[in-house]
Amino acid sequence: MTSPWEPKQYLRFRDERAQPFYDLLDLVRPIPGGHVIDLGCGPGELTKVLHARTHASATLGIDSSSTMLAESNKLNGPGLSFSYGDIATYRSLKGFDLVFSNAALQWLPDHATLFPRVAGLVRPGGQLAVQMPTNNDHPSHAIAHEIAGEEPFRTALDGYLREWPVMPPEWYAELLDRLGFEEQHVRLQVYAHHLASREEVIEWVKGTLLTDYKKRMDAPTYEAYLAAYRERLMSRLDAREPYFYAFKRVLIWGRKEPK
Ligand SMILES: C[S@@+](CC[C@H](N)C(=O)[O-])C[C@H]1O[C@@H](n2cnc3c(N)ncnc32)[C@H](O)[C@@H]1O
Repeated sequence: MTSPWEPKQYLRFRDERAQPFYDLLDLVRPIPGGHVIDLGCGPGELTKVLHARTHASATLGIDSSSTMLAESNKLNGPGLSFSYGDIATYRSLKGFDLVFSNAALQWLPDHATLFPRVAGLVRPGGQLAVQMPTNNDHPSHAIAHEIAGEEPFRTALDGYLREWPVMPPEWYAELLDRLGFEEQHVRLQVYAHHLASREEVIEWVKGTLLTDYKKRMDAPTYEAYLAAYRERLMSRLDAREPYFYAFKRVLIWGRKEPK
């Protein structure tokens, strides 16, 4: 299966998508000389900002997409590097002073197993910072799911439906406490995006959620899926321009107790 990530499509809404990153970064305490890992670093631009803002001596971005890595590797520099890595299996002997992940962990299932694993990468006294969308009840996401469950797409997808693994904010707060994070800040935030028109919602979702369906269908089936998605979505969204796209995200920060 080829990598479904298209950096150009993803970067179309660069500014809107960057704001939650900066809000997450604001929660992080500087770690001069520290070691940072960015899980699911994507095209790497924000990893570069993360590296500069934390004053870390080494920041490693990992991603499982070859197309994203082709972009991020152009940004290699002093203390900043990128490599292939699957978050689901990534291990490190030394651990990190900051484990950071912006808009990536929602792609991995079973957070009851994933989060303790990811938190295990944080050294004693270190920080964990994660941001994930939690907008699966918005028509932009709910309709993508609905249509994937209907014929002929259900057969083309072999019954596959993307389940949404993100749990309520308080679930992460309780988990952090149980995992020995002595300080924490967890919140749900609604981001207000003014898109030129409701059509732009499709372009937005094409850069993220729909990539998961696209990679599982042949081109004509995906085009038919997109047409069905467009028709139903447009009938459900407000025609007012600019279109107000309310987008919920959960921001999670914690600091582990020192040994
Ligand atoms: C929405 S992008 C976010 C990129 C970047 N963090 C940002 O804020 O711009 C999600 C990224 O997570 C990566 N990703 C998804 N599942 C992954 C996995 N299991 N291991 C590593 N990277 C993964 C994707 O390849 C993609 O680059």
